[in-house]
Amino acid sequence: MKGVILAGGLGTRLRPLTLVTNKHLLPVYDKPMIYYPIECLLNAGIDEILIVTGGEHAGDFLKLLKNGKHLGLRELSYTYQEGEGGIADALLLAEDFADGDKICVVLGDNIIEKHIRGPVGEFFTQRHGARIVLKEVDDPQRFGVPRFEDGKVAEIIEKPQDPPSNYAVTGIYMFDSGVFDIARELEPSDRGELEITDVNNVYLNRGDLTYSVLDGWWTDAGTFESLHRAAGMVRDGGANKVEPEPAAVLHG
Ligand code: DAU
Repeated sequence: MKGVILAGGLGTRLRPLTLVTNKHLLPVYDKPMIYYPIECLLNAGIDEILIVTGGEHAGDFLKLLKNGKHLGLRELSYTYQEGEGGIADALLLAEDFADGDKICVVLGDNIIEKHIRGPVGEFFTQRHGARIVLKEVDDPQRFGVPRFEDGKVAEIIEKPQDPPSNYAVTGIYMFDSGVFDIARELEPSDRGELEITDVNNVYLNRGDLTYSVLDGWWTDAGTFESLHRAAGMVRDGGANKVEPEPAAVLHG
């Protein structure tokens, strides 16, 4: 499976910080934001990665990541999204890179405490379709939110005012090669973007969407509040942890 990190967009919610560099190169505690999705994919055994970036500071990615070998990547490719047409618009740029393979997509501002080996392994054996990764949150109205019926996802609603559950659809998605045909058919949403939630709803309506629930904390880092919180979470507990939990020390 190949990995795609979507790090386009203009980061307007983080201005003035993003006037001088790309949002995904801003520090999250002790590393640039983009290191976290790279490590997330590497920890799941995915070392062939495409980064989709954009904006005026895209060249800074090369300065930092070079060919990715020093980070443990086997192949690092880059492409450039013009404007801010949405997550599904950025994803369309990955079609040649994917070359018919399944892909695991991680949004460039998503950070996790642990790893996604479970969901990736499950998607590996899933013959076709898509898999999303859910996480229970306190503020679901900021995200794509699933509505459940009989324990199954019945619909995903983007940033609902009245969320039908306390789960967020995280920015970790797994797709078969059909995703590009789906994305091409989308109409822009009210905010003028091709929405990844619309892609997921197409898979859902075909009965071809599965989900996992993420273990450990998850956060985005695209607003001042979440960027600050993410740095604290990384400082206090570390991110992308793969070691087994230390054995309990028994006293007495
Ligand atoms: O973080 C998870 C959430 O991400 C999901 O729950 C939502 O369903 C999904 O729409 C998305 O919500 P946001 O509104 O928070 O996404 P945002 O516009 O902040 O973009 C997240 C990342 O996606 C960003 O860091 C880079 C990438 N992106 C975004 C846009 C709009 C692109 O590569 N190109 C784009 O045009």
